[in-house]
Amino acid sequence: MLDPEIIKKIEQSSLLQALEAVCELFPSGIVFSTSLGQEDQVLTDAIFKNKLPIKVFTLDTGRLFYEHYDLLSNNRAKYKTDTALYFPDAKEVETYVAEKGINGFYHSVENRKKCCEIRKVKPLNRALEGARVWITGLRAEQSENREHMPILEWDVQRNLYKFNPLIRWTYEDVLSYIETHKVQELPLHKQGFISVGCKPCTRAIEPGENPRAGRWWWEDSHKECGLHSK
Ligand code: ADX
Ligand code: SF4
Repeated sequence: MLDPEIIKKIEQSSLLQALEAVCELFPSGIVFSTSLGQEDQVLTDAIFKNKLPIKVFTLDTGRLFYEHYDLLSNNRAKYKTDTALYFPDAKEVETYVAEKGINGFYHSVENRKKCCEIRKVKPLNRALEGARVWITGLRAEQSENREHMPILEWDVQRNLYKFNPLIRWTYEDVLSYIETHKVQELPLHKQGFISVGCKPCTRAIEPGENPRAGRWWWEDSHKECGLHSK
């Protein structure tokens, strides 16, 4: 287990110093999952620009926005580095769609969770096989579930360290990094989409609405898909 003093030091470091410190502690097996949202574009910029030894991957659910694919392509052109793509198991998707319908996730929470499990959670588990550290773009402000997450913690369920370098960042911090470092982002953010997931499960939000209100908007609660909670 990591010394709490080391974790404290990482907490007080700049983003780049924190990433470098974790790379020093773990010479291999560090992976970063990007949803291509604003937080993740900040991390991608820091990782790719500084050529840190971290594998960057996206879970391509097959239901993303076209804008996601353009951004993947633009990232590749800008940083000259690839983002690995993980796809769901084709047979599982075929069976799900045959049983529940192509948009079956609208019909019940159970159907929706099953779709997220097939298209996101299982591919994530595959992407994390053999990893020692999993980096995410989670921020405490985003939801109650994330409010008390530490910057670096042992994930018992997944048997690795989960590292959330932006956990204490505000949304303004994210925007400021994007502006200062001229980071590319999804054009959707300028159209009222703050938290962006799959296209059929994300809508734009109104001013004053919770940033995650547009995710699975037809459900009363359950604003998580299983990547970061049960
Ligand atoms: S979600 O659980 O509600 O979908 P959210 O969109 O807030 O997650 O993103 C939180 C973090 O989960 C991101 O910073 C990223 O690390 C990871 N993540 C979410 N969606 C994806 C995806 N499609 N591919 C890779 N990582 C993802
Ligand atoms: Fe399926 Fe929607 Fe979950 Fe994407 S967000 S995996 S389309 S239920």
